[in-house]
This record gives sequence, C-alpha cells and structure tokens, in this order.
Amino acid sequence: EGSGEEAELYTEYKGVYLPTNIHPQESLKYYEEFTFRHDDILIVTYPKSGTTWMQEIVPLVQNGGDLTPVLTIPNWDRVPWLEEHRACVLNLEQRASPRQFATHFHYNMMPVSFFTVKPKVIYVIRNPKDVFTSSYHYYGMASYLVKPGTQDQFLQKFINGKVMFGSWFDHVKGWLNAKDQDRTMYISYEEMIFDLKDSVSKISQFMGKSLDSEVIEKIADQCVFKNMKQNKMSNYSLVPNEFMDQNKSEFLRKGIAGDWKNHFTVAQAEYFDAVYKDKIKDIKYKFVWD
Ligand code: A3P
Repeated sequence: EGSGEEAELYTEYKGVYLPTNIHPQESLKYYEEFTFRHDDILIVTYPKSGTTWMQEIVPLVQNGGDLTPVLTIPNWDRVPWLEEHRACVLNLEQRASPRQFATHFHYNMMPVSFFTVKPKVIYVIRNPKDVFTSSYHYYGMASYLVKPGTQDQFLQKFINGKVMFGSWFDHVKGWLNAKDQDRTMYISYEEMIFDLKDSVSKISQFMGKSLDSEVIEKIADQCVFKNMKQNKMSNYSLVPNEFMDQNKSEFLRKGIAGDWKNHFTVAQAEYFDAVYKDKIKDIKYKFVWD
C-alpha cells in the first residue's frame, strides 16, 4: 500500500490524500488563513456526491433564477473550492456578499475562521455505493489521480480511505456529528433526484431567498441532468483531454440514484454493507437509502 504512484501524485495533509498539483502547499496555507464571512454559503461534499449540481443550483437561487452566471462562468470560478490552487488567484476577498464556495474538506480540517465566524453550510450526502461507482469511473479518466486498478482493488482503497480526500465514512461522520448544526442544511443527492423542485425550494429557504414557484421551476429545469450536461460552463468540457479524458467516461456520467446495482457484484455489495454498518454505527442520522 502507498505505492510509488501515490507518493508521486498525492500529498498527505491532515491524514488524507490530496492531489498535489491541484492543492500545492501555497493553497493549503491560503485556506488555513482564510477569513469567512457570516453570510458566506459553503457547499460541502465528499467528491462525487453532487458538488457540480449544487454549484449550479446555489448561484441560480442567489440570482433569482437569472441564468447569466451559470451560462458564462465555469463552475470552478462561480463557486470556487477553497482548497484548490485557483482560490489563491481569484481575489475572493473582493467578492460581494453573500459569497459562495465549495469544499471537500472534512469537518476537522476546517480553518479556525470557520468555527468562529460560522458561515452557512449546505452538506450534500450521497449513497456511498453510488459515490464509489461514480469515483471508480472518474479515477479511470482523470490523469491527476492514481489509476483505480480493478474494481476490487479500488473498493479496498475506497473503504480504507486511500483515495483523494480520505474516507467517505470519516467525512460524513465528521459533518453529520458536527456541533454547530444550526447553520447547516443537510440534503441528499437522492432527495434531489426524487424531487428537484422541492429541493430547490428548501435550498432557497435556507439561503433566505423567497422565490416564486415559476422561478423555482425555471431553476430546477436548468439543473436537470440532461440540461446541465449541455452547459459548457458545468460539464467540464473546458478541461483539456489530457487532464480529464471524457471519451473514457463523462464527468456528468449517468446522474441517477442506484447505479451501483449495475456495477457491484453480490459479494462486493455484501462486503460493502457489512463494513458500512460497522463504520456508521455512531452516526445519528437517518440515511434515505437505509
Ligand atoms: P455519476 O458519475 O453517478 O453520474 P461531483 O460533482 O460531486 O463530482 O459529483 C459528480 C456526480 O454527480 C456524477 O455522478 C454526476 O453525473 C452527478 N451529477 C452532476 N450533475 C447532476 C445533475 N444535474 N443531476 C444528477 N446528477 C448529477
């Protein structure tokens, strides 16, 4: 374990692997020293849980359904990741409130200002078997990540947290058991699949934006999978092929709940469920898929 490829491509930071070229020391320091504002909105996810989807919804809600930002600004500049290198060069300090950010950090990796200023958090959670399936395809096409190997090999790495941003189990445990839950909205990928309009409405209430039902409908329509797939500013088609080879697997790949059923063997699912049951036993949260 910890092969040469890992050492070459990843940095170990606060106990988790981060892809080095996206998260150089400079950007990690920037985040450590970052000053939040109370009205910032922070989208928090474990990778492959619906980050890009939320990077579409939140700006649309904020702008009252005006499509301009999502049709003109790439998702990574529209709602930047605070731990990515780009954050240092985007002049985030100059942005007007309420600012919108994303992060994949675990709760216990957050900078000091997060705990004192208490920005708003939208935590998106997804069935881990679907997170695994989505990740497996993504690791196969993104050249900045260690090749996944066979599905069995990748399952082992995923369960042991030997993947970027560490263990899914630790991530959800940290955020779901967070002390300051009053400023946090929890929403699942599955709820959004089941009823996107209702989800957009809940998100707008949380953000303190009261929107007419036509506006909610317009936002939900822009954010359905088939429409988001057409949006060049959200489908990662601006990223060069050498970095993400979408001929191998598209970034907006399938966009459904339960695709794991098409990929897990019975043995893999049973194994996963046994590990899952053990690892989540001290989380007080009702997962929609259980
Ligand atoms: P799949 O690989 O299962 O299709 P993230 O943005 O956190 O990296 O997550 C990517 C996953 O979210 C991918 O899952 C992607 O297709 C899915 N996704 C992105 N936008 C979506 C949308 N509008 N509706 C449904 N799924 C979406």
